[in-house]
Amino acid sequence: MEALARHFTAHRLFEAADRDAFLAEIGPRIRGIAGGGVNAALMDRLPRLEIIANFGVGYDSIDTAAARARNIRVTNTPNVLNEAMAEITIGLMIALARRIPQADRFVREGGWLKGGFPLQSELTGKKVGIIGLGRIGKEVALRAQAMKMRVFYFGRHKQVREPYPYFDNLIEMAAKSDWLVAIAPGGKATEKMVSRQVLEALGPEGYFVNMGRGSLVDEPALVEMLQAGGIKGAALDVFANEPNVPEALFGLDNVVLSPHQGSATMETRDLMGQLVVDNLVAHFNGDPLLSPVV
Ligand code: 8YV
Repeated sequence: MEALARHFTAHRLFEAADRDAFLAEIGPRIRGIAGGGVNAALMDRLPRLEIIANFGVGYDSIDTAAARARNIRVTNTPNVLNEAMAEITIGLMIALARRIPQADRFVREGGWLKGGFPLQSELTGKKVGIIGLGRIGKEVALRAQAMKMRVFYFGRHKQVREPYPYFDNLIEMAAKSDWLVAIAPGGKATEKMVSRQVLEALGPEGYFVNMGRGSLVDEPALVEMLQAGGIKGAALDVFANEPNVPEALFGLDNVVLSPHQGSATMETRDLMGQLVVDNLVAHFNGDPLLSPVV
């Protein structure tokens, strides 16, 4: 916000008590948006809008077709969050494998005084299938190997410069994996790609981790399979209807829940914010955009 204010007159839609009145008043003057969640209806309220600089690498909350039709540019924040995302992915995997949140509660609640904590499993030697070997997926793959895991991946295309075995069939990869990590973008093209069949192929010894978008997985099927032991466990940073998390998950011991905090470090959020501002500044200076998606 400080950097934005140095270059622009910034209006805070997110703080407006009456969104409609706020848009009626300032809408006609707005030329750029910093942030996401922009549908065609909002674009229509902003007739002079030239650019939407999304705060995030995923831009599924922006109607890009509507933006393109109105000649509005869209940028995102790739790369700067790769490290934070990869760190917490491995962190959540270890937390799930070793039940770290549950172990913490066990100590606090005096369980240890009554006996030992049950034995858990480890990542070492296990096979991890990555769904979406993009910029973040590649960083996850590197760190998973540091954990002595074997890496596979599924995606739209085989990437010839990547050393990991490629699967063009997600069910087949799930069947071969001990861990399935989803780090693909959201949107229509990937909706519910982690279907019930994929989870069934992962099976009762398999773990599922979702770091991408809640829309990637059939969430009701996931909840059911976690309840019934159809898969062994899940670590989830993203959900279908955030911040609402299916309450059925709260009572499950084989789940680690995280409040969509993949990129939420001071370091990374600073870099993301700076990239948002830099894209806006470039646009209004007539310079090439740093990270355009439309
Ligand atoms: C969010 C993210 O954008 O980059 C993404 O795609 O999901 C996150 O970094 C962030 O939570 C800001 O809303």
